[in-house]
Amino acid sequence: MNTETLKKEFREIYGDGEVSGYFSPGRVNLIGEHTDYNGGFVFPCALTFGTYCLIRKTNNPYFRFASLNLETKEQISIEALTTPLQKGNWVNYPLGTIAQFVKKGHTFKTGADILVYGNVPGGAGLSSSASLEVATAVAINDQYNFGIGKVDLALMGQKAEHEFAGVNCGIMDQFASAMGKADHAIFLDCDTLDYELVPVKLDGIKIVIGNTNSPHSLDSGKYNERVAQCQAAVETISKYKKITNLAQITYEEFKPLEAKFDNEVAKKRARHVITEIKRTTDAVKELKAGKIETFGQLMNGSHDSLKADYEVTGHELDTMVEEARKIEGVIGSRMTGGGFGGSTVSLVKEETVDNFIDQVGKKYNERTGLTPEFYVAEIGQGGHKIF
Ligand code: GLA
Repeated sequence: MNTETLKKEFREIYGDGEVSGYFSPGRVNLIGEHTDYNGGFVFPCALTFGTYCLIRKTNNPYFRFASLNLETKEQISIEALTTPLQKGNWVNYPLGTIAQFVKKGHTFKTGADILVYGNVPGGAGLSSSASLEVATAVAINDQYNFGIGKVDLALMGQKAEHEFAGVNCGIMDQFASAMGKADHAIFLDCDTLDYELVPVKLDGIKIVIGNTNSPHSLDSGKYNERVAQCQAAVETISKYKKITNLAQITYEEFKPLEAKFDNEVAKKRARHVITEIKRTTDAVKELKAGKIETFGQLMNGSHDSLKADYEVTGHELDTMVEEARKIEGVIGSRMTGGGFGGSTVSLVKEETVDNFIDQVGKKYNERTGLTPEFYVAEIGQGGHKIF
C-alpha cells in the first residue's frame, strides 16, 4: 500500500487535515535464538516489511486507534492509558507502548488519532508485534517531542509486550525494529545493549525466509515456560558458580555441571542457550572473515540445538529445514524467531533460489498439507518518519 492510499484511508476514518506517518520493520534473526532473555548475543536484521503508523494529534481527551488489517477500533481516554484491554485485542500493543510514556512520567494533555497498517505476515515469527510497538513509540515520541532515544524506545516496546501482551520476551525484536540499518545485521549483546552493525554483503547468496503458515503462533505459555526453565537452570548452576544469567558461563565450565542437574529439562535448555551464544559469536567472526559456508553450518547447528535441547521447532519447521538442506546450493537453514511454527531462514545461492522455493514448497506441502510462502529478504532500516 503506498503512502497516498494510507493517507486517504486515514482521512476517511478520521476526517480531513494534516497527518504524519512512521514506519518500523519486522526482523529476521540470522542466528542467536532464545539467547536474548538470557543476556546472550543475537544477530538479527530489520526487514523492509513492517508496520505503518499514521497519527494526528487532536484536542480530544482521548486516543483513537484503528487498523487496516483488523476490524476492532478503540477510543481510550487519557486517564485509562495504563490499563490493558482484554487479552487478544490488538490495541494492547500500541496502547501498552503509549502507557510506557506515562509510566516514565510524561504527560499527555491531549490525545491523537492513530491508524496502523502492517504488511508483516501475522504469526510468521517475523515480529509483527514488535514492529507495531516500535512504530507507535517512534510516532508518539516525535509527535509529542519527548526526546527519548531509540534504544529506550525499543525497551519501552519490550515492556509493552510484557505488561500488555503477557509475553516475557527479550529485547531482540524491538531492538532490531528500532535500530536496524539497510544491508546490515545487528550483533547485539542483550546484557549490556552494546551493539555493532555488521555489513551483510553476501555475494551471490540470498537470505530466503520460508513461512510455514503453520497455525501455531508464538504461544506466550510455552515461551514464558522456556524463560522460567532458564531461570531454574541459573539457580542450579549458581550452587557451583555464581551467575545471574546463562551468558555468564562457558560451555567448558557448564559441561562438568551437567551431572549435577536433577532437572533434565532445565539442563537441556541451558545447554542450548550456552552453545547458541558461542555459535552466534563464532558466526559473526566467520561472516566478517567471509567464511559463509562455516556461517551456514553454525545456522544448521542452531536449528538442531533448538530442536533437540530447546524443543521449540515442531513438525512444520523441522520439515521445512530438512527439505531445504537437501537442496544443492543451500548454505544453511534454520528456524528463526520464537518457534512453535513461524518461519525458517536459509542462505541460498542466487542461482538456486527459484528451484529452492519450488522444491521446498512442494515437498513441504506433501509432508504437512500446508502451503508455505517464501520471501527473499531485503535488509531495511529501523523505525523512522516517512511523512
Ligand atoms: C521471540 C521473542 C524474542 C526472542 C525470540 C527467540 O521473537 O520476542 O525476544 O526471545 O523469540 O530468540
